Amino acid sequence: MISDKNFVDAAEGKTYFILNYGCQMNESDAEHYAGQLEEMGYAKADDFHNADIIVVNTCCVRESAEKRILGKIGELKRVKENHPGQVICVAGCMAQKDGEKLIKKHPQIDLLIGTAHVNSFKKILTDFLADKGGRIYDDMIIADSEFEGNRVRQSGFSAWIPIMYGCNNFCTYCIVPYVRGRERSRSIENIVEEVEQAVANGYKEFTLLGQNVNSYGKDFGEKGMFAKLLRRVNDVPGVERIRYMTSHPRDMGEDVIQAVAECEHICENFHVPFQAGSSRILKMMNRGYTREQYLELVKMIRRYVPDAAVTTDIIVGFPGETEEDFEETLSLVKEVGFDAAYTFIYSKRSGTPAAKMEGQVPLDVKKARLNRLMAVQNENSLKRNEEMVGKTYEVLAEGPSANNPNVWSGRTRTNKLVLWPTEGRTFTAGQKVNVKICNAQTWLVKGQAE
Ligand code: 5AD
Ligand code: SF4
Repeated sequence: MISDKNFVDAAEGKTYFILNYGCQMNESDAEHYAGQLEEMGYAKADDFHNADIIVVNTCCVRESAEKRILGKIGELKRVKENHPGQVICVAGCMAQKDGEKLIKKHPQIDLLIGTAHVNSFKKILTDFLADKGGRIYDDMIIADSEFEGNRVRQSGFSAWIPIMYGCNNFCTYCIVPYVRGRERSRSIENIVEEVEQAVANGYKEFTLLGQNVNSYGKDFGEKGMFAKLLRRVNDVPGVERIRYMTSHPRDMGEDVIQAVAECEHICENFHVPFQAGSSRILKMMNRGYTREQYLELVKMIRRYVPDAAVTTDIIVGFPGETEEDFEETLSLVKEVGFDAAYTFIYSKRSGTPAAKMEGQVPLDVKKARLNRLMAVQNENSLKRNEEMVGKTYEVLAEGPSANNPNVWSGRTRTNKLVLWPTEGRTFTAGQKVNVKICNAQTWLVKGQAE
């Protein structure tokens, strides 16, 4: 085994680049890959072309993501031809799903790292460079879910904190349980330690991540653990904002909503994907709740936290979805009046039960439904944002906007994007600013700093 010291010497002057795709969990994993690479002595390259090590962190939740990533992996073949010795690692959900098939088709890949091996990346790479390692790590044997080491975080004030990995739900359209394995939770102590360390490094906002955060701790055989974790993180001195995602409507308990209502630092934003408005489709999706139960949940959220923003994920064109089913999705969207929604066209994922279901909906029908859905939701978003006009909100400043250094942007506790002119004042990322809203648009609001 090469010691860290030798490795740092071996990596001197060498660089890495991570091409990241997909969800927040992947962003968090990428921060851990970067942390391990920097521990080994690599520095971040400005551009992937010249990097000594490229990590492509992949996503396979929808076919469109997969196609884009395969295009990029293809491009890397030519890049590597111009850079002999460059190491190409393909990590994440596609590496897990396709394993050997991927490397056979794309021999420019040096290392395939499945989702169970994020924590052992440093060892895998060390062995590979010493010519000891295999090329494919796609088993699901997970030694430990606790986190040790470093992350190189993208943001200087907002930190992703994975609290659990995997999913036990097997929604019939979803590939995630097959590529991320069963639920494994980190211990509260391990999570709190990471939060405390990040606070010491100046972090203010913490987003607790998991495929189904409401199941946190169930693998320890205990109930109500997510609400306990929220309260515990709320008590960490220096924590200013807590977010979490993603919630499952079936598992979202009153205890969690109460924790949000009572804890000073937990943000009033509930992201609760409902996926489809028809109970018949929900049953076929294996979601474990009905339309009525979902609406009850939203009522409970509004009873405890009247000013909460409620956001969601929706799939259109699940197999067998009729015009009537789809209209139930539209009517639910209107009834709830979501602040925002992530809307997706159903994508057939081979190996999932829905891929084999009859009544696959033609693409043109799915596209037309998506457009109708987005039009309804855009009206909701604009209406909700218009309700903010004339009121003052606490905004966590993020930075100057991309195209105008004299305009800053940030987010409210309800996760609304806010822009305001600096008017000669200096702001810093992570600073709390009170902004009075004067203009509302579909995707953002504008205001004046007080
Ligand atoms: N097709 C379309 N959307 C999907 N999602 C998950 N699987 C699929 C699929 N096969 C969506 C769900 C989930 C979000 C992260 O991605 O809405 O909440
Ligand atoms: Fe996929 Fe359902 Fe698990 Fe979410 S809860 S990751 S949609 S299987």
